[in-house]
Amino acid sequence: MTSKIIGTGSYAPAQIVTNDDLSKIVETSDEWIVSRTGIRERRISLEEGTSYMATEAAKKAMENAGVHVDDIDIIVLATTTADNCCPAGACEVQAALGAEKAVAFDIIAACSGFLFGLNVVNSFIQTGIYRTALVIGADHLSKLVDWTDRGTCVLFGDGAGAAVVQASETGIRHMVMGSDGSKGSILSCVARTGGNHFNGNVPELGYLHMNGQEVFKFAVKKVPECVSQVLAGANMDVEEIKYFILHQANYRIVEAAAKRLRQPLEKFPMNMDRYGNTSAASVPLLLDELNQEGKLKQGDKLVLAGFGAGMTWGAAVMEW
Ligand code: COA
Repeated sequence: MTSKIIGTGSYAPAQIVTNDDLSKIVETSDEWIVSRTGIRERRISLEEGTSYMATEAAKKAMENAGVHVDDIDIIVLATTTADNCCPAGACEVQAALGAEKAVAFDIIAACSGFLFGLNVVNSFIQTGIYRTALVIGADHLSKLVDWTDRGTCVLFGDGAGAAVVQASETGIRHMVMGSDGSKGSILSCVARTGGNHFNGNVPELGYLHMNGQEVFKFAVKKVPECVSQVLAGANMDVEEIKYFILHQANYRIVEAAAKRLRQPLEKFPMNMDRYGNTSAASVPLLLDELNQEGKLKQGDKLVLAGFGAGMTWGAAVMEW
C-alpha cells in the first residue's frame, strides 16, 4: 500500500507586481532580476492571509479529486508564515472547509514544506492510520520581506498549492527528506526574540535574511543529490522520469540540477517567471499548473523536490 495524489488545486493573489514595479522601490532592474533568477513578476497578497489562500487551494484540490470534505482524515499545512502563532493555519483551513472529521496541524520546513507534508501523510496512509489527506503548501512571504533589501525582495511571491492524497496500490514509490541545522543562518527570519515580563527584553520581529551565494551553492549540490537518492531508493532510472517538478527559486538552480542529472531542460517545467519563489507553495503550484494543462497522464513518472531554510530538502518519486 502506498498513497497517490488524486487531485490538485492552487491559489495566487490577484495583485501582480512586475520587476519594473520593484525598480521603483529599490535600485534594481528587470534585466538584473530576469538574468539572475528568471523571475519576471510575482503575486503579492493585499488582503489574503495564508489560511485563506490555503483554503482556496484546498477547495480546488478536493473538487479536482472528486472527494467530499467528510472524506478528509488529515490536513497538513506546510507554511512558515501562518497568520497566527495559534491556532495553527491547518485548523483555520479545517474550520473554513468544515472538515469536521479531520485532524489538522502545521509543519514548518520552509520551501521544502510541501515535500515534508507529503512524506508525513504518506507515512500515515501507509501504516493504515488514515486514508485520505489534504496536503497544502501556502506562504505569505511578502510580510517577512524587507522591502528595502533588493537582495531578497525581488525573489519572493505569495501563493498556495494543495493536493488530495489517498491510499492506493500505485503512486508514491519513494521519498527522502533531510535537514542541516548547522547551515540555518544562511537563510533565516527571526520571528520573536526572547522578550518577557521578567527579562525586560522587547520582542522583536525580524525580516528575512539571506546569504544568496551560500544558498545557491547549497541548492545546486543538494537538489540533484536528493533526486538521485530518491530514484536509487525506488530502484528507478533517471531516464524514466517525465517531469522533474523542482522548487521554483531560481531558473539557474533548475538548470544546474538538469545538467548534473544529465537530463534535458524540457523535463524541468518552470513557472517562477510568473510567481517568483512562493516557498512551500511552489512545488504544488507548479504541479497543479501541469495537471490543469492536461500534461500529466496516468502512469507518468514524476519527481518532486524542494529545498529551503533550515536548511531542509526533500524529494518524492511517484507514478501519476
Ligand atoms: N538588483 C540589482 N543588483 C542587485 C540586486 C538586485 N535585485 N540584488 C543584489 N544586487 C547586487 C549586489 O548588491 C551586488 O552588488 P555589488 O557587487 O556592488 O556588491 C551584485 O548585485 C552581486 O550580488 P550577488 O549576491 O553576488 O549576486 P548573485 O549573482 O549571487 O545573485 C541571487 C543573487 C540572490 C540572485 C543569487 O545568489 C541566488 O539566486 N541565490 C539563491 C537564492 C534562493 O534561491 N533563495 C531561496 C531559497 S529557498
